[in-house]
Amino acid sequence: VAVEARKSDLEGADLASRLATEKIDVSLTVRPEQSGSLHPISQTIEEVVAIFGPMGFEVAEGPDIEFDANNFTKLNFPPDHPAREMHDTFFLPVQEDGSRHLLRTHTSPVQVRVMESTKPPIRILAPGRTYRCDYDLTHTPMFHQVEGLAIDTETHMGHLKGCLIEFVKAYFEVEELPVRFRPSFFPFTEPSAEMDIGCSWSDGELKIGAGGDWMEILGCGMVHPNVLKACGLDPDVYQGFAFGMGVERLAMLKYGIPDLRRFFDADLRWLKHYGFSALDLPSLSGGLSR
Ligand code: DAH
Repeated sequence: VAVEARKSDLEGADLASRLATEKIDVSLTVRPEQSGSLHPISQTIEEVVAIFGPMGFEVAEGPDIEFDANNFTKLNFPPDHPAREMHDTFFLPVQEDGSRHLLRTHTSPVQVRVMESTKPPIRILAPGRTYRCDYDLTHTPMFHQVEGLAIDTETHMGHLKGCLIEFVKAYFEVEELPVRFRPSFFPFTEPSAEMDIGCSWSDGELKIGAGGDWMEILGCGMVHPNVLKACGLDPDVYQGFAFGMGVERLAMLKYGIPDLRRFFDADLRWLKHYGFSALDLPSLSGGLSR
């Protein structure tokens, strides 16, 4: 039977009965998907790596299930410090020896693993999944971060600022992008800062670039001497900087994606709308995004 049917015609509860009664040959009537596409999270991570790669940063990875020590203690979170509570941690059951594993609450434990296993100079970028027990408009229990770490004998705050200013300009593709560093607190850095980029809001629409407003984009600082010591590096010889940022937030800001929760719905229509060509890898020379 020659039946002209679009894919949408074939969907729905009556599909099975129509297939039976109308003898529709599905192989003839359903057009195949034209192509797959890259999820905005993957795209954003590729873009961040494409920018930091030429600055000498290599990608490093760590496990999603971490030791409490790597996630907290060696990063200078004192035992029972309220910062541990702030991370809304998913803990695994306490083991016989009293230790407990957890789902890493940030990508910073990759810093620990790299410092413990590598002799400086170190320049790494660690993208990956992170977990916190939180769910609302702006939080999902699983999300992504990218961590950066640079350790050498003479690394200073000027290097940190230079790298991060170059990064935000390249990522948002705005040459005259105003930035500011605000003093902040993280247990694993001293001094610590948060970096804001300039933006403006008009008619409810956000524009990245010069304007009256500021938007927080990442946390950063000089690696705390206690962290260097805990990872076996002599703080009188080595120093360095670190930074961390949320991948969903970067993607939402650049690509105008309004609702965080849709990232993880696996909704094909959403992916078609926000997805990227899988063959079009971002590079500084070829262009970061399409
Ligand atoms: N780990 C921090 C968080 O999850 C982010 C962060 C801030 C990472 C400052 C860093 C840093 O490496 O230097 O909120």
